[in-house]
Amino acid sequence: MLASNSLKDKVIIVTGGGTGLGKSMSTYFLELGAIVVITSRKNDVLISTQKELEEQTGGIVFPFVCDVRLVDQVIAMRDAVLAKFGRIDILVNNAAGNFISPTERLSTKAFNIIVDIVLKGTINCTLEIGKHWIESKQTKAKVLNIVTTYAWTGSSYVVPSACAKAGVLAMTRSLAVEWAKYGIWFNAIAPGPFPTKGAWDRLFPKELGEIINLENKNPLKRVGNHIELANLAGYLISDYSDFINGEVVTIDGGEWLMGAGEFNFLNQLSETDWDNIENVVRKAK
Ligand code: HXC
Ligand code: NAP
Repeated sequence: MLASNSLKDKVIIVTGGGTGLGKSMSTYFLELGAIVVITSRKNDVLISTQKELEEQTGGIVFPFVCDVRLVDQVIAMRDAVLAKFGRIDILVNNAAGNFISPTERLSTKAFNIIVDIVLKGTINCTLEIGKHWIESKQTKAKVLNIVTTYAWTGSSYVVPSACAKAGVLAMTRSLAVEWAKYGIWFNAIAPGPFPTKGAWDRLFPKELGEIINLENKNPLKRVGNHIELANLAGYLISDYSDFINGEVVTIDGGEWLMGAGEFNFLNQLSETDWDNIENVVRKAK
């Protein structure tokens, strides 16, 4: 979507960049000329993604093992990126943990692990990199947070994730205002379902296939394509979106609205059903 070189020489950190949507966004950022730092807990995954993306795009990928829950590792990652490239332009808080479960089955540890990765991990990266931007008087930087549509609706069976993503959304809107004076932009993307191994193994296992059909849950009758999300992310971290700040952009084909609208279930009715209903309704004088 964007002109080539739209992200030329920008140094971008993508947490959780070795897999799934983080990998797809990283690929697109590289194609637009960026230098991309990918981080996660698994070195072998990062190295393999580095190799693949460098071959595919000819760009520079810097893999760095960093558990976003551990501030010391976040600081070490930040300092390593600064030592290697001299600057950080953009932070994409994409790393997450999640699984479906009745909430009453969760131990405190299970609840905390999701909040620690999603909310506190996002805060750790934002705070440590943000303080560097402020102290070094960098004139421009952008943060993009990946949330979900249930950050504002809430959702059963993923309550730790819903709580954590709601917190990330609150942080996005709060710091968009507070740190604008330092030249730091904050925006978020709320994706609907985009197939990834990480999400599908934990949220839509095969056994659920008989109960739900994601395509039918969506007015467009499909799930998302990774490039659609990567395009949006590329735009929101580029200079083209400079008047967008504190926004959360939903990219879900209208899925959450379909679940929300009072009469959306009437989609199922046929023309004959409507003929019958119209006859009855018109009689109500
Ligand atoms: C109940 C569970 C559980 C389950 C784990 N636990 N799975 N409890 N039901 N299905 C409990 C464990 O018993 C343990 O608590 C605690 O959680 C920690 O589990 P560990 O396996 O020790 O943790 P760890 O190995 O660090 O794994 C973290 C993880 C895992 C979050 C549980 O799923 C992970 O690594 N995820 C990273 C990738 C990911 O989740 N990607 C999907 C993002 S998708 P006890 O007390 O028993 O010791 C996403 C999309 C949302 O967010 C929207 C889609 C439309
Ligand atoms: P994914 O491939 O499982 O991505 C999650 C990434 O986070 C992994 O690379 C994982 O790597 C990393 N991670 C997990 N815990 C970490 C930690 N403690 N420190 C550092 N990295 C950690 O799943 P995905 O579907 O692409 O999800 C990416 C983002 O999109 C998430 O924020 C998710 O909530 C959001 N999202 C996805 C969908 C969807 O339909 N796919 C919908 C809405 C929102 P390691 O395990 O190696 O650490």
